[in-house]
Amino acid sequence: MSTLDNSYVRFQNVRKTYDGEILVVKDFNLDIAQGEFVTMLGPSGSGKTTCLMMLAGFESATQGEIYIDGTPVNNLAPHKRDIGMVFQNYALFPHLTIAENLSFPLKVRKLSKSDIEQKVKRALDMIELPQVAGRRPGQLSGGQQQRVALARALVFEPKLVLMDEPLGALDKQLREQMQYEIKHLHERLGITVLYVTHDQTEALTMSDRIAVFNQGVVQQLASPTELYEQPANSFVAQFIGENNKLSGKVEKIGNDRCVVSVEGCNVQALPVNVYQSGEATTLSIRPERIQINPENDFDNRFDARVLELIYHGDHMRTRVELMNHDQFIVKVPNGSRPLEIRKGDLVQVGWLSRDCRALDASSGQA
Ligand SMILES: Nc1ncnc2c1ncn2[C@@H]1O[C@H](COP(=O)(O)OP(=O)(O)OP(=O)(O)O)[C@@H](O)[C@H]1O
Ligand SMILES: [Mg+2]
Repeated sequence: MSTLDNSYVRFQNVRKTYDGEILVVKDFNLDIAQGEFVTMLGPSGSGKTTCLMMLAGFESATQGEIYIDGTPVNNLAPHKRDIGMVFQNYALFPHLTIAENLSFPLKVRKLSKSDIEQKVKRALDMIELPQVAGRRPGQLSGGQQQRVALARALVFEPKLVLMDEPLGALDKQLREQMQYEIKHLHERLGITVLYVTHDQTEALTMSDRIAVFNQGVVQQLASPTELYEQPANSFVAQFIGENNKLSGKVEKIGNDRCVVSVEGCNVQALPVNVYQSGEATTLSIRPERIQINPENDFDNRFDARVLELIYHGDHMRTRVELMNHDQFIVKVPNGSRPLEIRKGDLVQVGWLSRDCRALDASSGQA
């Protein structure tokens, strides 16, 4: 976690209610370092846009402080915050041409005519739409308009850029290309980015850190690797990546090992947020960490029945029944160990205790 000294954006104990009753953001704390790319990821209605709007100045915080570069901005008008913004439906000026739309933030900042021309041209090249300078927004596709909106947010080279689902309307190929463009621009310009998306792959590939939101509360703030490899609770485990979940009860617990009973089977696991025997817990195991007919050093091995095999090229997605659960997924990589199993076969399924995290029994909703 960054300290105030090098944090460029800081949310401190921020709360927000629209109706005076329901807190849609509850005690939100976030420090973003200069040049960092932070993503807010979470289900619909979890408070992501609200946080972005408070930073931009279009909504006020009900409680708490927001700082940009060490200065409290709670009472600073939006246009004085010098933030570039791209929203999913952030409209371009319909009566202006694309070039005029891109010039607008530069004119406001009183740049010279030749500087404006040069920057607008560069911005259009960046989004690969040099031919649309003279058209109006209505003469572009939705995706093209979104790219112009992105260019307009970046054209005046702001230090801080906020993006709310900026690629939501684009098709897959363009979306991936724009992800790369944004990432590249972020690195080249050294801008600080606060990004919002529903798409976990997008969040994992683009971000330095991700804040996973649920019901107005940050469930975990961590690097993509840490979120995926070490989810802090069962909500994050379930929300990021594919996950097998088993409900059980803690039988024994030590520092780095616990025994959890699931449907009469004893499973060895890593205690993450369980503390005493008798507690209910949810075990979380990634499908790629499970082996069928496992190697000898696997400390968990159980009988299972193969229910379904789906060929995915690089792996075989295998659904098995185990401990009375029939949705247990194992990803068997193609190549390493030839696997000759068929639907209906009885097999052994195993995993290492360190790949099996004993998390809270609830869904992680705070
Ligand atoms: N202007 C508003 N007035 C009243 N309630 C609002 C307003 N804007 C948002 N809300 C409510 O606040 C909560 C959080 O909304 P917000 O838009 O921040 O969610 P989100 O995480 O951005 O969701 P999505 O992924 O669907 O965009 C929701 O319950 C929403 O209905
Ligand atoms: Mg939103």
